[in-house]
Amino acid sequence: MAKQEDVFKKVISHAKEYGFIFPSSEIYDGLSAVYDYGQNGAELKNNIKQYWWKAMVQLNDNIVGIDSAIFMHPTIWKASGHVDAFNDPLIDNKDSKKRFRADVLLEDYCAKLEDKAQKEIEKAEKRFGDAFDKAQFESTNPRVLEYREKQSVILKRLARSLENNDLADVKALIEELEIADPDTGSKNWTDVRQFNLMFGTKLGAASENATDLYLRPETAQGIFVNFLNVQKTSRHKLPFGIAQIGKAFRNEIVARQFIFRMREFEQMEMQFFVPPGTELGYYEEWKQKRLNWHLALGLGRENYKFHDHEKLAHYANAAADIEFKFPFGFKELEGIHSRTDFDLSAHEKFSGRKLQYFDNERNENYTPFVVETSVGLDRLFLAIFSTCLKDEVLEDGSERTVLTLPPALAPVKAAILPLMKKDGLGEYGEKIFNDLKYDFNVIYEDKDSIGKRYRRQDAIGTPFCITVDHDSLTDHTVTLRDRDTMKQERVPVSDLRRIIDEKTNFRNLLSKI
Ligand code: GAP
Repeated sequence: MAKQEDVFKKVISHAKEYGFIFPSSEIYDGLSAVYDYGQNGAELKNNIKQYWWKAMVQLNDNIVGIDSAIFMHPTIWKASGHVDAFNDPLIDNKDSKKRFRADVLLEDYCAKLEDKAQKEIEKAEKRFGDAFDKAQFESTNPRVLEYREKQSVILKRLARSLENNDLADVKALIEELEIADPDTGSKNWTDVRQFNLMFGTKLGAASENATDLYLRPETAQGIFVNFLNVQKTSRHKLPFGIAQIGKAFRNEIVARQFIFRMREFEQMEMQFFVPPGTELGYYEEWKQKRLNWHLALGLGRENYKFHDHEKLAHYANAAADIEFKFPFGFKELEGIHSRTDFDLSAHEKFSGRKLQYFDNERNENYTPFVVETSVGLDRLFLAIFSTCLKDEVLEDGSERTVLTLPPALAPVKAAILPLMKKDGLGEYGEKIFNDLKYDFNVIYEDKDSIGKRYRRQDAIGTPFCITVDHDSLTDHTVTLRDRDTMKQERVPVSDLRRIIDEKTNFRNLLSKI
């Protein structure tokens, strides 16, 4: 089995074993591509949300946050283009009966070509050592050029075919490249069909009067339709932004890869409303700002890259993804789109209401343009969780599994662990717990050996363990163990709040953006 697969399996089993993520409805054999967050997962997820919300709403005096409803008027999805164009091209394999996204089959084929190009580069790097000029090699090596040219031709043809809704050509491309079902090797494909990803539901008791609704496939439209409400009540001038965190639902055809692609997931989106003509400048600015926000998490610059879109969505005049190196390779983590005035203009047309802004400086009314940043909360969770999960061999040859989460995101900030419950150590520990609990999420634990308790806290990413021993009762000091260095130091109980705060405060992340 490939190493990457092992790593990914370990991520999934660790998430379950330590109360981060459970398959939904597990006692009924689960529900495909739906997951529940457990006690530690919910804390980590809430902390990630806080990091995003604080960075958007608290640090920017021209961005405000809202919380709009999941149910929305059905015409909204007609206006936004989701009823007509929110489709994935799907293809079935006649032998394995498995369903795939035709565009993903082709993109995966291109990713393999890119892997081959990377291997050539790595080989040459080893051969030439310090004298290696990567840029020159990439621009002159015939094999690298051939792999890259082939990718470009395929992706351009795919983009053109999808643009023209020429699904026969998408199938022809799959057949020309002899792409097979990755699981079975069969090349016996059906035609490619479009499949709308929105979930439908009904509003109202009597079925004859019930209104057909959709579960929102993105949170963004809740922001667009509230644009004037927020602008008027907040009195913000352009440019200003509206942020929102909330659930979105998509009937994904290929829902695999754990919480990477789910049918019910959460988005953190921000629409930045700007004067027409200025949008591409703000688009570049937000691309960089969002990358910096990710980098502050400390997961490593090498794990991120931009992917500029060849095929633009119907609403965009520029778009890029921030891709992250997940255990199964580089994939989209966040989208940054310059959405023009598409959405506001469409809502004006379909609702018959004006969604315009009067610009004092330009002395004119106009429909604002929008730059959007949209990150999947669950994908971000997976990025952080999988990168921070590490197996370490210690100096004495023993092993430990540790989750090196940024301390501000850790589900539990400190664990209070009396060496034993008796002799008053338990009571002393509880006193510390009762004091710290108003400021931090802390836990008290007195079962099992201290070594086992340390390992359990390492596995859920707790930055500090506080050990209470007999000396604590008289000198009011405790042993403080650091998760990452495993160093232990004796500190006064009265210093605990300050020390924990210094390490776990969101300021540590926010000041790095
Ligand atoms: N409002 C724009 C929008 O929704 P998108 O690229 O379709 O754009 C934005 O989605 C982000 O939402 C993605 O970058 C991804 O992180 C997340 N996302 C999309 N579909 C998802 C799914 N099925 N499961 C988990 N996250 C998803």
